[in-house]
Amino acid sequence: MIALGCDHGGYELKQEVIKYLEEKKLAYKDFGTYSKESCDYPLYAKAVAKAVSEGECEQGILICGTGIGISIAANKVKGIRAALCHDCFSAEATRQHNNANILCMGGRIVGPGLAIKIVDTFLNTPFSNDERHIRRINLIEEE
Ligand code: RB5
Repeated sequence: MIALGCDHGGYELKQEVIKYLEEKKLAYKDFGTYSKESCDYPLYAKAVAKAVSEGECEQGILICGTGIGISIAANKVKGIRAALCHDCFSAEATRQHNNANILCMGGRIVGPGLAIKIVDTFLNTPFSNDERHIRRINLIEEE
């Protein structure tokens, strides 16, 4: 199950992501927002991050205007590795190296064509499981 969330700045792009997920028959849960009305991105970031950190969803996709605010907020939740990606190389690398569990994008930065390729890359790239990457990820969580 993929957790989805956005603010008003990411609403239109989230609709494109939903179209893609439905075409691919991938299960998702949409945590809002559900319109273009102005709202507060941390609320949606935290709802999606919580669903992923608690195991209700395996991965998440968060979209705000820039992707920045929503990634900062998501990364406050323990166990979350939210990666802001606006290119396919980053989306692939963050899955392989960081085992990122949430993809963040800016709806005012990327067009739908590139965004969907980024989503596709993120969802279809496995973690490398390399010892050095596991060690580095564990170091992130250390107090
Ligand atoms: C909303 O105007 C905008 O600030 C938000 O979508 C996001 O870009 C914040 O980082």
